[in-house]
Amino acid sequence: MNPIKVGLLGIGTVGSGTFNVLKRNQEEIRRRAGRGIEIAVVADLNTERARELTGGTVDVVSDANDVVTRPDIDIVVELIGGYGIARELVLKAIENGKHVVTANKALLAVHGNEIFEAARKKGVIVAFEAAVAGGIPIIKALREGLTANRIQWIAGIINGTTNFILSEMRDKGLDFETVLKEAQQLGYAEADPTFDIEGIDAAHKVTLMSAIAFGMPVQFDRAHVEGITKLSAIDIKYAEELGYRIKLLGITRRREDGVELRVHPTLVPASRLIANVEGAMNAVLVQGDAVGATLYYGKGAGAEPTASAVIADLVDVTRLHTADPNHRVPHLAFQPDELSNVPVLPIEEVTSSYYLRMRVSDETGVLAEITRILAEAGISIDAMLQKESREGEPQTDIIILTHLTREKQVNAAIRSIEALQTVLSPVTRLRMEELN
Ligand code: HSE
Repeated sequence: MNPIKVGLLGIGTVGSGTFNVLKRNQEEIRRRAGRGIEIAVVADLNTERARELTGGTVDVVSDANDVVTRPDIDIVVELIGGYGIARELVLKAIENGKHVVTANKALLAVHGNEIFEAARKKGVIVAFEAAVAGGIPIIKALREGLTANRIQWIAGIINGTTNFILSEMRDKGLDFETVLKEAQQLGYAEADPTFDIEGIDAAHKVTLMSAIAFGMPVQFDRAHVEGITKLSAIDIKYAEELGYRIKLLGITRRREDGVELRVHPTLVPASRLIANVEGAMNAVLVQGDAVGATLYYGKGAGAEPTASAVIADLVDVTRLHTADPNHRVPHLAFQPDELSNVPVLPIEEVTSSYYLRMRVSDETGVLAEITRILAEAGISIDAMLQKESREGEPQTDIIILTHLTREKQVNAAIRSIEALQTVLSPVTRLRMEELN
C-alpha cells in the first residue's frame, strides 16, 4: 500500500524532531501502522533551513496554504503555534478534508470547541497528544486507558520551565529573578517566558485535560491562573521545614456543584512521588474511582519527546482514517452530543488547605488574636511554625497551615488579620493539596 502523505507546517525544534524520528524508525512505524508514513511537503518561512534539515528529500514551500490545500496530502501536522495563523490553517486543512495533528495547546484550549466541531462536520480527526505534557501519552491514557473510570481529579506538573526554576530555587536557595536568568542562559526558558512563568501554558494544558476527563467543552477563559513570579525563596524554605515542596500544579477536580480548574503554586507533601519530580520533567497524577491514583512521568518538551507524541498521533490517524467517524475515539473522549455544561467554579468557591505567612510584632496576645480570627471564620489550624525573633528586632514570621476550607473564608480572614496593628506585612497565601 502507498504510504500515507503528511504535510508539515513548521520545521523548528519539534518539526525537525518529527522528521528525524520518522526517518530513523520508519520501518518499525510502518509495521505498526500497516503502511508507511511519509512527509511529502514542509512549509516554513525559512525555506533554506527547511531544505537543509530535510536533505532535499521532500518538497519545501514557504506558504503553508499550499500544503493545507494540496490534494495528495492526507494529514497536516501543525507545529506553528499560537492562535492566529495556526487557527486559520487548521480550519482550512479541515475544510479541505485533511486530518490534523497538532502540538498547539494554546490553539485548542482557546478555539478547541470551534475546531472539534468543524472536524466532526467534515468527518476528520484532530489529534493532539503532543499538546499536553510532551512525550507523556496522557491524552491516550485519559481518553482510552482510563475510560472505565469516573475521573475524580487530576493534578499535574505540566510546565518544565517553571518546574526547573522551582527546583533550582529550592536546591540553591536563590530567588526567582536570579534563577529565571540562569534558565534563560541554559535554554530552559524562552527569551519571552511569560506564558510559562505566568502559568498560562500550564492552564492551556489542564484545560484540555479537564475537558477530556469530565466530558465538557474546553473553557480556558474560566480557568484560574497564577504563575510563580511572586513566589519568594523564603516560602520555599518554610514549606520545606514543614515537610512540603512547592510545585506549580495544574489542578482540575470534579465536585457536586461544578468543576475546579486552576493553576497556581501549590504546597505538596514532600513524601508524595509528584513532589519529587525535579528539573524540567513533567508528571500528571490522575485519580479515577475504579483504578485509584495513577501517575505519568516523562519529558514534557524537547524535539524527540514531543515528536514521539506527534508520531503516535500520525500512527493513530493512519490506522483509523478509513473507519466510520462515529466509531472513532471522540476528540474530547465523550460523544460530542453527550458533553455536559457543568460549570467551572470561581476561585472563591474552591476548597483547599492553605499556607499563611505573616510578619508580626513579637508581643503578648498577637498569636491569640490571629487564631481567634481564624476560629471565628470557621478555619481549623493544622500546623504552625513561629520563627525566633532576632536580637534587637521584636518581629517574627508566623506560618500557619490550615485544614480544608473554602477560599472565600480564607480571603475574609486574611483581610481581618491584615487589619491588626500587630501584623506588619500583607499575608502571603499559598494553596496546599494533600493529593491522597
Ligand atoms: N514551554 C513548555 C514547558 C513546553 O516549559 O514545559 C511546551 O509546552
